[in-house]
Amino acid sequence: MEEQAKGLLKLINEKKIDRNTKFLAVASGKGGVGKTNFAVNFSYLMANDFGKKVLLIDADIGMANVHILVNVNTKKTLKNILSGEKIEDIIFSTRGIDILPGFSGIDAINEVDDTAVFRFVQNLNDVSEKYDYIIIDTAAGIDNKVISFIRASSKTYVITTPEPTAIMDAYALIKSMKKLYDYSDFKVVVNMVKSEEEGLETFNRLKSSVDKFLGINLQLGGVLGHTKNIQKTVKKKQIISEVYPSDKFVLQLKKIASEELGEPPPPVKESFWEKVVNFLKKE
Ligand SMILES: Nc1ncnc2c1ncn2[C@@H]1O[C@H](COP(=O)(O)OP(=O)(O)O)[C@@H](O)[C@H]1O
Ligand SMILES: [Mg+2]
Repeated sequence: MEEQAKGLLKLINEKKIDRNTKFLAVASGKGGVGKTNFAVNFSYLMANDFGKKVLLIDADIGMANVHILVNVNTKKTLKNILSGEKIEDIIFSTRGIDILPGFSGIDAINEVDDTAVFRFVQNLNDVSEKYDYIIIDTAAGIDNKVISFIRASSKTYVITTPEPTAIMDAYALIKSMKKLYDYSDFKVVVNMVKSEEEGLETFNRLKSSVDKFLGINLQLGGVLGHTKNIQKTVKKKQIISEVYPSDKFVLQLKKIASEELGEPPPPVKESFWEKVVNFLKKE
C-alpha cells in the first residue's frame, strides 16, 4: 500500500489534478431513509437547474439501485472498473447527469478489497477534472468501504427520517467517523417529514447529542417532506424532479442544492487525493 500511495502522490504532482471538483457523499446509519432518491434528485437538480457537471457514483456495493431509479439497463458497472476496465467505458449519461452504476449480489461486498478501491480511485482521478461535483451514493451503515468513500469526500450529507431508530443510527455513523478519523464535515437532511417542525425537531434532537457528546457543531442541510409523488415516480422509474418539478420535496431539495452552491469551498485541509493517500498509508 505504501508504494501505491507514493505512486498516487507522484501522479497528483505530475498531473496537477484539479482540486476544485467537490466530492459529496450521501450516507445514513439506517437503510431505506431515502439516500438514493436524494442522491439522484440532487444530482438531477445540480445538473439541470444549476448547470453543473455532475458524476453520480453508485457506491452502494451490494444493493446498487441508482440505475433502476433512472431506468437504464447497464451491463457494465463499478465491478468492471474494480477488475481493471476504464471508467469512461462504464459511465453512462441520462437527463444531463453522468452515472457510474453500481453492482449487487450476495458476495458483492466480499469481492471488493482495498487494492480494488485504490484502482478505482486512480481511474476516478482521470475523469474528476471534467466534473464540478462527484456525488457518491453509499450503502447504509458504517462498513469499511463506506468509511473510505466518506473520508474521501469534503462533505457528507447524512440522511435520516424522524424515526428514533434512524436518528440513533445517524448518531452512530457520525460518532464513528469522528472518533476513528476525526471527520466531522456533515450536513443532516431529515427526509419524509410530515411538517417542517417535525424536521427541525428531529434535527435538533440529533444536534444536541452530537454537539454535546462529540463536540461537533452539527449543520442542517434541510428538511424534505413525505410525498406520494416519490413512490409514484419510483414505481414508474421516473425522477420526481423531472416529472413534478413543483412538488414541495423538489422545491425543498432545490434549496439544499442552492445552499450547497452558495457555500464557499471548504478550507483546503487535505485534498481528496491526499485523504486517499493518507488512508492507504494507514492500511
Ligand atoms: N420524501 C419521501 N417521501 C415519500 N417516500 C420516500 C421519500 N424519500 C424516499 N421515499 C421512499 O423510501 C424508500 C427508500 O428510498 P431510497 O432512496 O431507496 O432509500 P435508501 O437509498 O436510503 O435505501 C423508497 O421506496 C422511496 O420511494
Ligand atoms: Mg439506496
